[in-house]
Amino acid sequence: MSSQDNPNPQNDSGAAEIRKGLAGVVVDYTAISKVNPETNSLLYQGYPVQELAAQKTFEEVALLLWNGELPEASELTAFEAMERANRALDEKVKAAIDLLPDDCHPMDVCRTATSVIGAGHSLAEDTSAEAQLRKAQELFAAMPAVVAYDQRRRHGLPLVPPREDLGYSANLLWMTFGEEAAPEVVAAFNTSMILYAEHSFNASTFTARVITSTLADLHSAVTGAIGALKGPLHGGANEAVMHTFEEISAAGVDPSEWLADALAQKKKIMGFGHRVYKNGDSRVPTMRAALDDMAEHYGKTELLELYTGLEEAMAEAKDIKPNLDYPAGLVYHLMGFDTPTFTPLFVAARITGWTAHIMEQAGANSLIRPLSAYNGSDERHLS
Ligand code: COA
Repeated sequence: MSSQDNPNPQNDSGAAEIRKGLAGVVVDYTAISKVNPETNSLLYQGYPVQELAAQKTFEEVALLLWNGELPEASELTAFEAMERANRALDEKVKAAIDLLPDDCHPMDVCRTATSVIGAGHSLAEDTSAEAQLRKAQELFAAMPAVVAYDQRRRHGLPLVPPREDLGYSANLLWMTFGEEAAPEVVAAFNTSMILYAEHSFNASTFTARVITSTLADLHSAVTGAIGALKGPLHGGANEAVMHTFEEISAAGVDPSEWLADALAQKKKIMGFGHRVYKNGDSRVPTMRAALDDMAEHYGKTELLELYTGLEEAMAEAKDIKPNLDYPAGLVYHLMGFDTPTFTPLFVAARITGWTAHIMEQAGANSLIRPLSAYNGSDERHLS
C-alpha cells in the first residue's frame, strides 16, 4: 500500500509523522521560480530576480512568469495595449467597493473586487488554458485601479482615471496620487513589483493551487490567495513593519531597547525571518538599494537610522535577518501610500505569480488532499 493510500500513516515508532506547517515537505514540481536558500538566490524561469529588477519592466516579467520566456518586442507591444485598454475601474466593481465600509481593510476590498470581477466575467467557468491566461491578464490590468481608488476613497478623494500613455507602474502611481511620479520613483516601484511577483509555494500561492486543484475557476483561486496573503505572517508583514516603526518612534526609545522588550514578551518581530531563507532573503539587497534611493529622493534619510538600528539589534539579539517586507513597507511609505495599502500593492504584484501557478497546477492537476492524524476522543456512542 502506498503512503498516499494508507489511512493511518505512522512512522517506525508507531506515532503519526506530522510536519507542522508542511515545513520541509516537497508538494509538487514547479518551473516558475526557484528559491535557493543555500545561495540566497531567487530565479524566475531561470533568471535571477535582481537582473530582472534592474533591466526589465514589470509587464515583461509578468509575461515571463506566464509564458516561460521573456516577450519578443511585438508580443510585449500587444500585451501593453491590452493592459492599457483594461485599466479602468469597472462600474460594477466600483459600486461593490462603494458598498463596503470605507474603514474596512483594503485587503477585503481587493478580495471583494476580485470576486465581483470573476462573477461577471464572460469566461467565468471556462478553465481552458486560453481562458485562464486571458482572465489572468485582465485581472493584472484591473487591480491597480482597485488599489488606487480604495486609498483615495479612504482619504475622501475622487477616483483618478487611468492614463494610457503611462506604463503599468507610472499609471498605478498616477491613479493613486493624481500626479505624475518622478522617473526614479517609478523605477523603485517597478523594482518592488518585480520582487513581489513570485516566490514558489508560499502560503497564498499554495492556497491558489489547492483551490485550482478542485477545478474551481481562476478568480476563486485568486480570491482565496488574497485571503491567505492578508495575514501578518505572510503579506500583512509589510504593514506590520510600519506599525513597529511608529511604535518605536512614539516610545522615543532606542530600537534595541524596544526589541529587548518585545522579545521578552515573546513577540514575533514583523519583517524578520523566513520559512525558507535562513541566511537572509535574496530580494532584500535590491529592495534596500531602492529604499536608499527613495530616502535620498524624498530627503528623509533619518528614517534609515531607525531601519538600520532595528536590523542590527535583531541580528545581535536573535541572528535573524530581514525579509522583503522590511524594506518594502518603508519604500511605499516614502512614496505616499498609506500603511493599509501596502499589502494590496503586494496583491497587484503577486497576481502574476499566483495566476502562473494556477495555470501550471491546472495543466498537470491532481486534487490536493493531504491526510490528518486523528487525536480526538476514542470511539463513543450515544446512549
Ligand atoms: N521575530 C522573533 N523571533 C523569530 C522571528 C521573528 N520575526 N522569526 C523567527 N523567530 C524565531 C522563532 O521564535 C523561533 O525561535 P525559538 O526556536 O526560540 O522558538 C526561531 O526563530 C525559528 O523560527 P520559526 O518560527 O521556526 O520559523 P518559521 O519558519 O516557522 O517562521 C516566519 C517563519 C516568517 C513565520 C517567522 O519568521 C515570522 O513570523 N516572521 C515575522 C512575520 C513576517 O515577517 N512574515 C513575512 C515573511 S516573508
